Amino acid sequence: MRPLVACARLVRPHRFAIATALLLAGLTTALQGVAALLMGDVVDLVDGAEFPLAARLLQAPRAFDGFQVTLAGPDDAIRLMLTIMVGLIGLVAVKGLASYARTYLLERVTYRTMRRARNSLHRKILSLPLGVISTQRTGDLMTRSVSDVQQLTASVHAFSNALQSLVTIGGLLAFMFFRNWLLATGTFLFVPLIAVVIYVLGRRIRRSSARFQRELGAVTSRLEQNIGGLRALKAFGAEHAEHLHFNSDTLAMYRTGMRRVRVFALQGPTTEVVMVTGMAGVFGFGCWLILTGALTFGALIAHVFLGAMLVDPLRKVGQFYAVFQQGLASIERIEAVHGLPSEEMDAGRVVQDARGQIRFDDVSFRYSHDGEDVLRGVSLVAEEGQTVALVGRSGAGKTSLLHLIPRFYAPTAGSILLDGIDTREISLHSLRGHMALVPQDTTLFAGTVAENIRLARPDASGSDVQAAATRAFADEFISAFADGYDTPIGERGVRLSGGQRQRIAIARAFLKDPRVFLLDEATASLDAESEAMVQKSFAELMRDRTTFVIAHRLSTVLHADTILVMDAGRIVERGPHGELLAAGGLYAELFATQLRVGDA
Ligand SMILES: Nc1ncnc2c1ncn2[C@@H]1O[C@H](COP(=O)(O)OP(=O)(O)OP(=O)(O)O)[C@@H](O)[C@H]1O
Ligand SMILES: [Mg+2]
Repeated sequence: MRPLVACARLVRPHRFAIATALLLAGLTTALQGVAALLMGDVVDLVDGAEFPLAARLLQAPRAFDGFQVTLAGPDDAIRLMLTIMVGLIGLVAVKGLASYARTYLLERVTYRTMRRARNSLHRKILSLPLGVISTQRTGDLMTRSVSDVQQLTASVHAFSNALQSLVTIGGLLAFMFFRNWLLATGTFLFVPLIAVVIYVLGRRIRRSSARFQRELGAVTSRLEQNIGGLRALKAFGAEHAEHLHFNSDTLAMYRTGMRRVRVFALQGPTTEVVMVTGMAGVFGFGCWLILTGALTFGALIAHVFLGAMLVDPLRKVGQFYAVFQQGLASIERIEAVHGLPSEEMDAGRVVQDARGQIRFDDVSFRYSHDGEDVLRGVSLVAEEGQTVALVGRSGAGKTSLLHLIPRFYAPTAGSILLDGIDTREISLHSLRGHMALVPQDTTLFAGTVAENIRLARPDASGSDVQAAATRAFADEFISAFADGYDTPIGERGVRLSGGQRQRIAIARAFLKDPRVFLLDEATASLDAESEAMVQKSFAELMRDRTTFVIAHRLSTVLHADTILVMDAGRIVERGPHGELLAAGGLYAELFATQLRVGDA
């Protein structure tokens, strides 16, 4: 029952559309039923019956008062038959309209559900804290957003279809009972038998579906990694080895898929055998009733027509269970994402005009509960407008420290303060609003150059964007493109050099005009000219803002007010360049080996 509840919750927003569709299904069934009865009448007429049921029905409201009900001769019989036939065509036309409206409503529910499910999942994924998202595989999240949503939608579709089919089945059985209760009882007995077949197979489908989606996630993940990392694969000649892995992933998926196919394929024939057996039984029973005089030919024909109309809705109910079981696995996978914690963007205080003083009070941090401390007892103060350079060996904890400032992660112990206010008390929206981060590798998104810069402030005007680009020394190369700021980036747009990408990222930061600027300097050196441009724009951005910079350039450390030297998560030395160099410690060593890189 629990799965049904889950599905009912999904379709709840569409209950009016579904109710209307159900009414239409009732109407359609009524028309179909009347049509079947009329068919039976035609047969009874041909068989020489004197008082066909339709005539009796029509006579009730005295509409047929002037009509000769006891047919005097063949002419009358043909006239009545023609009337019935024309009535039948009219019925089918009206039924067609009703079923059009029903299909339209149902599909609208389906597509709306798909859109809602996908949107809410996307919103959820964007709200995941970085610490949580790093525990998820990208490909798997993508599978959940694309394929699982599709499965879920299919089960919503099947669900509303099944509801309508139940209405139809109920209506048709009612018509059968109305026409001949004995024969109807015989038919009715077969319905539960089909239900059992459907149930047993459905359970197996669900199990293999969950597994299939999981394996699809693995395949998508690998695909995504291999496309993204193709350069590395080629550089190391690892294409073949990777392909073998991929091959075994798809093999696992294929096997699970075929397991599901076997059950699926079994379902149609099994249901059909049961149904045909049922129909044969009912038909035989009907013939026997005719022989004993308890039934007319017309009644049997009407019954067979009604029975034939039962097949489709019964099949749909059967499919519903299988598709629904399949979708259920997906519903669970989607629900699992919704169950992950979210970042609460608006909880906490809003800091209006930050000055930009940043203080670390005895901060320790680790990425996971059972992991090692990545930062240990870090204390520091960056006064408003100061530049703090972070240097240290790879893995010393520089990036981790930087990422704690906008609270991408929460410190395990100690606190980080903005203008003396614990950042835990400040709403993330407000906190991050005062900061801009330029990472080592700039991510540019599909879209135009202007859109990419505007990421920092979506409501910025065109001239604001250009002003920011100018300050980032990016205006010159952007304006040189034929479409200028409207040039699309990547794929089918321009490809930007490393230095150009960085300057776009810097333009973003300028547009945001933050109080606190966080910069993870690229380790790879650019060509001399780009390098000079990038350095100039960094210098411009650092002016009058509190800046934390992970430094790889000599020019950067020379401009810093303080240099913090990190080793294994601790700050081991601090001070200006000259002092640290003279002390002859770790800094002097790093200076000799690292900091010259990329400097002329
Ligand atoms: N997302 C993460 N999850 C778990 N551990 C991480 C994560 N990011 C970094 N670490 C670990 O934290 C430690 C510090 O990493 P961090 O990235 O802060 O170093 P870094 O000083 O920036 O080094 P580099 O100069 O190479 O960029 C390393 O031991 C690293 O393995
Ligand atoms: Mg780093």
